[in-house]
Amino acid sequence: MHFRAYAGCMTDASPLPLVVDTDTAADDCFALLVALLDPRADLQAITIVAGNVGFAQQVDNAFLTLELAGRVGEVPVHLGAQQPLVQPWVSATDVHGEDGVGGQRRTNTEQPASEHAVDALIRLAREHAGELTIVAIGPLTNIALAVRLDPEFAANVRELVIMGGSINGRGNITPAAEYNIFVDPEAADIVVRAGFPRVRFVTWDPLTVRDTVFDEARIAEIAALDTDLSRFFVRANAATYAFDLAAGLGGSTHPDSLSVLVALDRDLVLAERPYRVDVELRGEFTRGATVFEGRATDAEANATAIESVNSEAFFHYMRRMLGRSA
Ligand code: BDR
Ligand code: CA
Repeated sequence: MHFRAYAGCMTDASPLPLVVDTDTAADDCFALLVALLDPRADLQAITIVAGNVGFAQQVDNAFLTLELAGRVGEVPVHLGAQQPLVQPWVSATDVHGEDGVGGQRRTNTEQPASEHAVDALIRLAREHAGELTIVAIGPLTNIALAVRLDPEFAANVRELVIMGGSINGRGNITPAAEYNIFVDPEAADIVVRAGFPRVRFVTWDPLTVRDTVFDEARIAEIAALDTDLSRFFVRANAATYAFDLAAGLGGSTHPDSLSVLVALDRDLVLAERPYRVDVELRGEFTRGATVFEGRATDAEANATAIESVNSEAFFHYMRRMLGRSA
């Protein structure tokens, strides 16, 4: 049974208070562009978590993205966890390149906020109690720490969108585990058990590998736009494109951008349904895998998974955004 379970609503008149928690490289940067440039978003903060590439590089990439969006000094960047909760950090430089942006560098000298990312998440959730959306597009370390530090944190959040896991058991960093969950499974376990009022998953398989692929023709369309943003995109995306192509995916994948966009645009979602989601912490071959139980009762369900989006509309949105002069 597929149905639209999401009844929450934002009006056109009031932009959505938003935080993006990110391991800023490649698609994370494009996701930030969505949050920075879409008038439906009121981006309150960017919080950085250990993930894709070196931590300091991720911070630089966030400031580079702010610069491209023409919003330096308007949205604070908060430094979060520099290691997963329990296990050592695992990078994704094999996927996104050493720096995740194809050698592009910021020219601004803006500094991160002094407040820790976890404190900022807790504060913003309190200040916007019942209204704040958090889009988590990296490992869930910062979100788990906020849950542990403030017993009211989860209840204060309107919606948590998580990019991570797979409904069908197929991973990308191991046969069974998707990268964001694999890097910090203990954090993911804390988050799915935290009792957030509304959690929506943008998963790797099948959603990302079917509905977010930008093939050669799509990349050529973006390149032909020849704007600062499109040139940034093509260069920052090149390593991911090559990696995903070699992995047989047909082009680059854009789950992080989709995660921000689904928080803003409910019409993009074609199907979603409730699940009981658990994280495998002990499996010999499956640590970091997500288990999506579709037979869960309403009382057992702890999340909704987006199962299908309008892929053409998503690409057209991204092309339109990258075609603008920031
Ligand atoms: C996720 O892993 C990261 O490398 C990407 O940024 C994305 O968030 C996909 O598995
Ligand atoms: Ca990411």
